[in-house]
Amino acid sequence: MEESPQPSLQEGVKTVASRRLPGKKIYRETCQVCHGEKGDGRTFVANVLAPPPRDFTSPASKKELTRQRMIRSVTEGRPKTAMASWKTRLTPKEIRAVVDHIRKEFMKLEE
Ligand code: HEC
Repeated sequence: MEESPQPSLQEGVKTVASRRLPGKKIYRETCQVCHGEKGDGRTFVANVLAPPPRDFTSPASKKELTRQRMIRSVTEGRPKTAMASWKTRLTPKEIRAVVDHIRKEFMKLEE
């Protein structure tokens, strides 16, 4: 008996899922390693980064980080930090989706 669904089916499901561009999936696969499961920057990787990733859930982050600034930071990266530019790896739509995920889930902001 087969232990898992056929690889082709799994691949298909994966492709469809990523086409729906869930910001959550992108976050988990590409951002969480540094920014953390809860968006508070408490990760093992953060221990060796200077500066470490900020706590998205803090009042200071909510105040400082506009949606526009976040989109720009993800697109272009942040100079002198480990935050890379993602523009060759994510589409503008995906960048907006992952930023909106952070704002909604961790910063508890809607817009
Ligand atoms: C290699 C570790 C690493 C990865 C991977 C990473 N970041 Fe960052 N990120 C950082 C660091 C370090 C900073 C700079 C300190 C700060 O502002 O949090 C930062 C900053 C940010 C900021 C705030 C920038 C500002 O304007 O002040 C946002 C938003 C952000 N990252 C989103 C993301 C998103 C979305 C992803 C995934 C696509 C991601 N990061 C992936 C390490 C990382």
